[in-house]
Amino acid sequence: MEFCKIKDVEPEEIDVLINLCVPPERRAFPSFVEGAAVKRNWARKSIEMFGSIAKIAYLNDYPAGLIQYQPRIEEKILEITCIFVPEMRNQQRGVGKALLKALVEDARKPKPYFGDASPLALVTWAFGVPGYYPQNMFYLKMGFKKAVENNPFLLYHPIKEGYVYQPKTGRYIPQPEDKGKALIFYDPSCPFCMYFTEQIKAAISEVAPNLPIRTVNMFEEQDEVNKRGQVPLCAVNGKPVTTFFLDKENFQREVIEALEGN
Ligand SMILES: CC(C)(COP(=O)(O)OP(=O)(O)OC[C@H]1O[C@@H](n2cnc3c(N)ncnc32)[C@H](O)[C@@H]1OP(=O)(O)O)[C@@H](O)C(=O)NCCC(=O)NCCS
Repeated sequence: MEFCKIKDVEPEEIDVLINLCVPPERRAFPSFVEGAAVKRNWARKSIEMFGSIAKIAYLNDYPAGLIQYQPRIEEKILEITCIFVPEMRNQQRGVGKALLKALVEDARKPKPYFGDASPLALVTWAFGVPGYYPQNMFYLKMGFKKAVENNPFLLYHPIKEGYVYQPKTGRYIPQPEDKGKALIFYDPSCPFCMYFTEQIKAAISEVAPNLPIRTVNMFEEQDEVNKRGQVPLCAVNGKPVTTFFLDKENFQREVIEALEGN
């Protein structure tokens, strides 16, 4: 492979990280302007807290790919939230592999937020994006294991020898103030978060035009998240909506059922 430099993202490179994910033609749309703003805020604070949150691969000084991660302190794991080599011309040239290798090496070093130890494992929810080589195929090729036999997306790579990751199980704990409302929980580490939030809002409003909708920033409003246990992307009337919003018909059906089941 030609020269590929892997670098930890510094505060002044946050926009490079954001622009690797958001195609130029979408950057001026209000939901992406807002998504970039919340990601900037998340990234600035997270770099301050943890030092490193993402690495960028530069091919001949040109940003070609990213790997992004965040510690899950309670579980003592490092979650990889995204790996992405957006441009076709840079794919299958070893960029993804170089990014992952750099992260594995970095993860082996002691971290102050893990009590000066390494994380037990790298864990990822390897979701796919249409038109791209799927993240889960990539991780499986790189030696990651399934955490649960019948789930092809939840994968891990032990850092501590012999460690077996067991996903935390939990349930959604509705709060009295969630009655008669929709809640959307968004992850500000993804610059698409506000775009997705707008789509979810629109899908809800089509079937429940008067339903109040509250958005919760999962990084800034951690108390709101923690008291609800395992939070979904969306909950209506205190009930988690399990259908993904892109399956609009079934998503909307669940919204209606959640409102009917008072
Ligand atoms: C997964 C991804 C990061 C891999 O990046 P990459 O730089 O192309 O990968 P590499 O060149 O380092 O290849 C790593 C391995 O994957 C394999 N691979 C990569 N792309 C492949 C493809 N299209 N078909 C088959 N195998 C492929 C390579 O053959 C290599 O395996 P090997 O070591 O056994 O030869 C890239 O394809 C990607 O960005 N996909 C989209 C991921 C995504 O959806 N991210 C979320 C965005 S919001």
